[in-house]
Amino acid sequence: KLFIEEIDCKGKTVIVRVDFNVPVKDGAVENDKRLRAALPTITRLVDEGAKVVLMSHLGRPKGQRVEAMSLKPVATRLAELLGKPVAFADDCVGPAATDAVANLKPGDVLLLENLRFHKAETDNDEGFAKELAALADLYVNDAFGTAHRAHASTEGITRHIDSCACGYLIKKELDFLGSALTEPKRPFTAIIGGAKISGKIDVIKALLPKVDTLIIGGGMACTFLKAMGKEIGNSLCEEEKLPLAKELLELGKGKILLPTDYLATDRLDFENRAIGSQAFVGEDAIAKDQMAVDIGPKSTQLFADRIEVSKTVVWNGPMGVFEIDASAKGTFAVADALVKATENGGTTIVGGGDSAAAIEKAGLADKVSHVSTGGGASLEFLEGKKLPGVEALS
Ligand code: 3PG
Repeated sequence: KLFIEEIDCKGKTVIVRVDFNVPVKDGAVENDKRLRAALPTITRLVDEGAKVVLMSHLGRPKGQRVEAMSLKPVATRLAELLGKPVAFADDCVGPAATDAVANLKPGDVLLLENLRFHKAETDNDEGFAKELAALADLYVNDAFGTAHRAHASTEGITRHIDSCACGYLIKKELDFLGSALTEPKRPFTAIIGGAKISGKIDVIKALLPKVDTLIIGGGMACTFLKAMGKEIGNSLCEEEKLPLAKELLELGKGKILLPTDYLATDRLDFENRAIGSQAFVGEDAIAKDQMAVDIGPKSTQLFADRIEVSKTVVWNGPMGVFEIDASAKGTFAVADALVKATENGGTTIVGGGDSAAAIEKAGLADKVSHVSTGGGASLEFLEGKKLPGVEALS
């Protein structure tokens, strides 16, 4: 694959796929992590004297123009981060886009309106991909978060433009995630959490042969507990996945580490961010009218001891209902353990999505080696799947 540093872009128009799918509320960007992550690529192109055309999706507008999903507020925030104006085109194709591109001078930056206002984007429509390609001389993909989608702006476009390169963010993500999988320093510990097993089966299966320890926490731990014949009360359980949980326990004998105690409650009130009665109970003592909402202090210690001495750590998924303060301690303790592992010389990687949100909430995101900007993309990469957006660059 060609890397951004290998392309000569002086005076050229470069169209860059970024992932600016960020939370926007009342016309303002709420979290600009993905914008900041794209700055090295944008700055490099600006400094090289390219005319920079940025394109992204935001949300899932399903081919409709939805004002709440406009990228306009993103252009405003990006201009603040870059310290220079960012032009905005009201559409990503057609006269609005071509006119805006024609007005660019070397070093200028333009952001096109949400690609998914056109259904042709997610359909990976050839005509639409050609229209995007026709806006520029060169294509750079730096949208790691969208690399698992074969869409017109991530895959189709590469067939219609002379030169394609990968940006700094994609390279950094692939370097971290890739070397963890292919040449991990040992011991290698993976921590998988989250509510359901169903979304994580493939990643557990793919990681088991590679890791020394696989820690399982979060709601999905209860399905494993039940598969071991234990009482889990009203805890989350995927009944239909019990045989699979048994199979994974067998497969992961000697490697899988499950919680030994839990924070149990009789009530989970998402709306008011509260839980009912609170008690730490052993893995054998979840009462019929209780549910597990977090791991307990013994498990926290058990997991932390293992994580802190690991030389490679990959974390995907929270340990409990971390959105509620009362049941967030286990997840934050894992975040702390990752920081200690980093201080001890380990490489620590947080897969995107909920665990990235958790480590940010804990204020520790810059104290680990890498926090991925991809939720689904990093999960698919860890599952060993090929990412169409990356493959298309080769
Ligand atoms: C994400 O936030 O995971 C990416 O931007 C991809 O979005 P999508 O799941 O709507 O394709």
